[in-house]
Amino acid sequence: MTETLDLKITKATSSRLAGIDFEKLPFGKTFSDHMLVADYADGEWKNFEIVPYGEIGLSPAISALHYGQAFFEGLKAYKHADGKISIFRPDKNAIRFNKSAERLCMPDLPEELFVQCLAAAVDADRDWVPNKENYSLYIRPFMFATDPFLGVAPSSTYKFMVIMGPTGPYFSKNLKVKVETEYTRASEGGFGYAKAAGNYGGSMLPAKKAMEQGFDQLIWTDAKNHEYIEEMGAANIMFVIDGKLLTPSTRDTILNGVTRASIIELANDFGIEVEERRVSVTEVLEAIANGTCTDAFGAGTAATIAQVAEIVHEGKSYLLPDPTKSEFAAKMRKALDDIKYGRVEDVKGWNYIV
Ligand code: PLP
Ligand code: COI
Repeated sequence: MTETLDLKITKATSSRLAGIDFEKLPFGKTFSDHMLVADYADGEWKNFEIVPYGEIGLSPAISALHYGQAFFEGLKAYKHADGKISIFRPDKNAIRFNKSAERLCMPDLPEELFVQCLAAAVDADRDWVPNKENYSLYIRPFMFATDPFLGVAPSSTYKFMVIMGPTGPYFSKNLKVKVETEYTRASEGGFGYAKAAGNYGGSMLPAKKAMEQGFDQLIWTDAKNHEYIEEMGAANIMFVIDGKLLTPSTRDTILNGVTRASIIELANDFGIEVEERRVSVTEVLEAIANGTCTDAFGAGTAATIAQVAEIVHEGKSYLLPDPTKSEFAAKMRKALDDIKYGRVEDVKGWNYIV
């Protein structure tokens, strides 16, 4: 069945675009002129609307605020040299969106509708998509529970929204990261694989402590013994060891990243061997120490390819080869960017043209 979007559009009377300094765009602080809003009630999605970006009135009793029935997605739209605008693999995010919804006992949104909503929102703010290498329009779809009810039960009403903002690189330097051996991000049977708001709330104290200790990011390890590597901050983690791309296999504690999946596919195309399996902290540290690990990087929409310069485990430092000289990261970054910015033919159909 083809879902068609019945959308009402109310345009902003004036644009804030002229006042934006595109040279200074810290992640997540600048929002475009419009946003998309939809309501779920009586068992269906309705009232799809694009309105000027702004505050929304809500009851202080909504269950999203109290019990965390809330999750989000993150994607980016890119401007090509010929002026076309594309969103990178929104179909993948649509699938993950509904996985998160299911785990949090929230309603799903048909994948086609999700993609159409994103396209309509980006279309309303086309002029906000930066025309600059490494820059894009970050798209933040999210859903949250709106029943004004303090009973611990799934809400019967929800809001789906899409907000957007132009952004540059999330990290401006190569990273010094700490292997976290006290706190955990996710445990088996939990909801680490969902993009649940609560996963990020719980990560803030460990991340803040690590930053106070001089680190840029954390490497999350398994909840049982802190023996296996899972993710890095809000990104997946990948290594190149003995020329092979090695990354933790996805499981219920790991977010199944679109960037991760894309890099794996490109690596396969390049004839690079890929191993997806449990990755122990010890094997990675040994490989760094003996020089066989040439690359470590985070992979994510916001993070892009965020290279690691140093990993510290229980106070002991392991230095990676100079990340600026990494051929692998440079090759992957170029391959991804060439597709995203429309510089090569999109043979994989990864670009959704708006
Ligand atoms: N892992 C976590 C916890 C994240 O928040 C993200 C960011 O979205 C990722 C991994 C990377 O996923 P993606 O490449 O789909 O952005
Ligand atoms: C993204 O890469 O889209 C993310 O969700 C990371 C974000 C939490 C900063």
